[in-house]
Order: sequence, then structure tokens, then C-alpha cells
Amino acid sequence: MPHLSDNGPVPDSLRPIPPRLADQLRHVLIDADYTVHGVRDRLGDMAARALAREQLIPALRATGGEEHLGLLLRLWWLHAPVPEASVRAILPLQELADVGLLTADGGEVRAAVHLEPRELADERPGYVVSDPIVRPGDGQPRSDHVVGAGGASATLSKLIVEGPVERALDLGTGCGVQALYLAGRAAEVCATDVNPRALRLAEISCALSGVHNVHMRSGSLFDPVQGERFDLITSNPPFVITPEPARYTYRESDLPGDGLCADLVRQAPRYLTDGGWCQMLANWLHVDGEDWRDRVGDWTAGTGCSGWVVQRDVQDPAEYVELWLRDSCEHGTPEYTRRYDAWLDYFEREGVRGIGFGWICLRNDVAQDATVRVEELRHEIEQPVGRYLPDVVDGAMTSHRLTDAALLSAHVALAPGVTEERIGVPGTPDPERILLRQRNGLQRVAQVGTVEAGLASVCDGTMPVGPLLDAIAELTEQDPASVRERVPDVLRSLIAEGFFRVAR
Ligand SMILES: C[S@@+](CC[C@H](N)C(=O)[O-])C[C@H]1O[C@@H](n2cnc3c(N)ncnc32)[C@H](O)[C@@H]1O
Repeated sequence: MPHLSDNGPVPDSLRPIPPRLADQLRHVLIDADYTVHGVRDRLGDMAARALAREQLIPALRATGGEEHLGLLLRLWWLHAPVPEASVRAILPLQELADVGLLTADGGEVRAAVHLEPRELADERPGYVVSDPIVRPGDGQPRSDHVVGAGGASATLSKLIVEGPVERALDLGTGCGVQALYLAGRAAEVCATDVNPRALRLAEISCALSGVHNVHMRSGSLFDPVQGERFDLITSNPPFVITPEPARYTYRESDLPGDGLCADLVRQAPRYLTDGGWCQMLANWLHVDGEDWRDRVGDWTAGTGCSGWVVQRDVQDPAEYVELWLRDSCEHGTPEYTRRYDAWLDYFEREGVRGIGFGWICLRNDVAQDATVRVEELRHEIEQPVGRYLPDVVDGAMTSHRLTDAALLSAHVALAPGVTEERIGVPGTPDPERILLRQRNGLQRVAQVGTVEAGLASVCDGTMPVGPLLDAIAELTEQDPASVRERVPDVLRSLIAEGFFRVAR
């Protein structure tokens, strides 16, 4: 059973789930094929797409009848009332009601939580238990609402570097979705949260998933893990930037602006083992007169970590305010206009032009010359990013460390999956543009000159760059000295972007 230590009172009827009851429920769910694949097949594409639009009717139609999977879906996922006799036939109703997971009234049973199947890292079935989804018309979420696994959770899971580790930390675990994922990778996982209700739900998620190596700790940011070190830290923190004190713990903090994300980044290296990773989602401000890259770059400066910061989206202040007012179902409430206005006032006062969404990955290289690459990538990229993320950081570090002389004597090779495209008027000998395109990974495209294209076509790591450039200069009738002077800068950036790799 996951260990719950000193988490303070849980302000409602949710109680720890006894191990025997957790096992019993887990078996009912698995036997009914209440799994990621089972649910997907049962709902079908149309109902699944409708659910993503907050429309329940197709899913309710797809789950009618007395058959177990349909009943479990209506109960735990769609939050429809289910006849008490049907529930009693498959679940220990009284015991589940005693721990606060179900409520029975007037011959009908309702779920008090949302229970969603999840595939664990080792592909065993897992379960994430959270508060029921708050949909438009349901009122606003409670301030200690615990969100389920959403799009942001999936983004973070796919970002996590692969490979086994000894100790992992999931900071702000919520329903425990990342902790469950980490449990298959790490010998030991520590899951923290300020919200006791979140820790209770995370504990239930672990118990129902048959996961026993996650330990819950209560407290803010790194307080619960003072003096400890981890090989992997993940966090999908409450990054939403608002003018008011936190209304919703799942998304907001009391730190002003993007201060929470800045604090996390600045503090994380102290809690990482040498070579350990910290991977988090974040929001950052775009402020008048400041490049956002400098702002986020400042958070990571001097940490001894190398890394990668990616901006995946930017919203203007009005889009941002609408997004989060919609998230908390405030549209149409009397408070909507006042809060919208006050939020925009705040952004105006602070000179905020936009809000960036993205991720921050740091590796504790303990290196004076460590560098963090900060960039925007808005296009589709290969998933899961975690599979090739260390190569991205290695490429940036290698390129950062290469002097011109070292580069000219290095052996480089074209990275796997890079193709060349020549674009020009049909029938003319010379292309107008030459592009190198990555068919995998980050799927970048770079426009290059004839020398770099020539290098791409011949370099396989067997000869150093300098002599290759001399030969290409001769073939293209260019001055070898000026080619040797000009190309290293371009090549460094192509190495940083993963088009070339340094073989030795
Ligand atoms: C967006 S939810 C993330 C939940 C989950 N980890 C995921 O990936 O979906 C953020 C979580 O951070 C918690 N939190 C808020 N303030 C915190 C703080 N100061 N320290 C630690 N956790 C905090 C919230 O209670 C919430 O569970």
C-alpha cells in the first residue's frame, strides 16, 4: 500500500482505501475490460470525440444496458446515476460508499470521483482517480478541486526521458498521473502536493493500479523533500498567471506573475543528483521591452544545468483570460465581466503582451559552461519527445563547446533521417533553395548553402570537417580559406539543431 505520511486532514468524506478493497475493485475493472483499449473500443470514435467536446450523449448511448463495461463507464466516467441493484451485482457498494468513492440515494448510485483507465509504463493497466470533471452548467470547481489526467498531463508524460532511475519526484502530483507513470521507471517515487485531497486521490490511484513504490508527502514546492536528491523530477505545476490570490489550487499559486515557475527552475538543481533531470511544464510572461528568451534564460542561468526550453504556444492576454475563465466554467456568471476586466487591467499594468506556454527540461551537468537552448517550436513533432530528448540537449551542448578549430578537426556525420530537398524552376540547373529536412524527431527544416549541402552528402564521420570543406570548396570553385571561416558558425547551428552529429 502506498505510504501516506502526515498529510493533514482531508476536508471531506474521502478515506484511505483498504488494500483488500482496492484489489477487489481493480479486479472488477480489469475483468470488465475497463482498460484504455476496452474503453476506446466500447465508446467508438464518435462518442470519444464528442466527449472531448464535453458532450455526453453519444457516450451514454454507447454504454446502455446491463453489461459490466457499459455500467462501469456510466458510473465512473460519465457520472450518470446507475440503478443500485446493478451496482450491487458487480461492486461492494457499501464498502466503496464507506470510503467515499460512491454515494447511494433513492435506489440510484453515483460516483463521487472520476475513475479513468491508464496504461502504466510497463503496459499494465492503471487507474487515475480524480474529482469528477466540471462541465459548463455544473457550477465552478471547488477551490481544492483535483483535476484528472488531461492534455497537459499527457504532454508532460511524453516529455519524460526514458530509462530506469533510482529516485523520482513528482512535484504537485494531483491525481497522481505522473507518479503512476514514474512508478514503472523508478525504484522509488516521491509524490508531493499542498492539497491533502490530491494526496488522498493520488494514493487511491496508486492502490487501484497495484503500484506500491510511490510515497506521498504533503507540502509546498520543495519543502517536503529538503536535503534530498532525485534522478528525475517532474512537475506540471499550477502555472496559471492571475492578479488575485490563488482561487484554484490545481492551477494557481500565490506567487506573483510567473514567479512560481521561476522559483521551481531556480531551486530544482539543488534537488537533482549529478546527471539528474528536471522536466516541467510552464507559463511565462512576454513583457514590453524584454525578449521572453532572456526572461526564461535568466531562470536557468548559473544553475550548472544544460537543457532545453521550448515555447509551444503564445496567447495574447484576452485569449489567456478567456481560456482560464472557461476552464473554471465562469462564462455567463455575474463575476465573469469583473474578473475578465481586472485580469486585463493587471496584464496592462505589468506591460504584458502575451503569455508563453511550453516546457523546461534541465539536466544537472554540474558544468560551468552548461548551456540551455531556448527556442520556439510550434509545429507537430515526433512523440514521445522523451525518447530523443537527451540527444537534443547533447547536440546543443556539443555545438556550444566546439571552437572553430575543434570543429574543423572533428568528424561529423549526417544525422539519421535527414533528407535533402532542392527547390527550383523545373529544367533550370541550379536550385533556388536547398533544404535539409528531418523526417523524425523534431522534424526541423533548414535552408542551407551549396557547401553545407555538399558536406551533408559526403560526411559519414570518417574524415574531419576541414579537409572535406577544402574539397567541396575546390569542386564549387570557392576560396577554401573563406569557406573554412564562414562554415563553422552555420555548422554549429546545424549540429545544435540535430542535422549533424559529431562522431568523434
Ligand atoms: C496542474 S495540477 C497537476 C496534476 C498532475 N501532476 C498532472 O500532471 O496532471 C498541479 C498540482 O500542483 C499542486 N500544487 C499547487 N500549489 C502547489 C505548491 N505550492 N506546491 C506543490 N504542489 C502544489 C496542486 O494541488 C495540483 O495538484
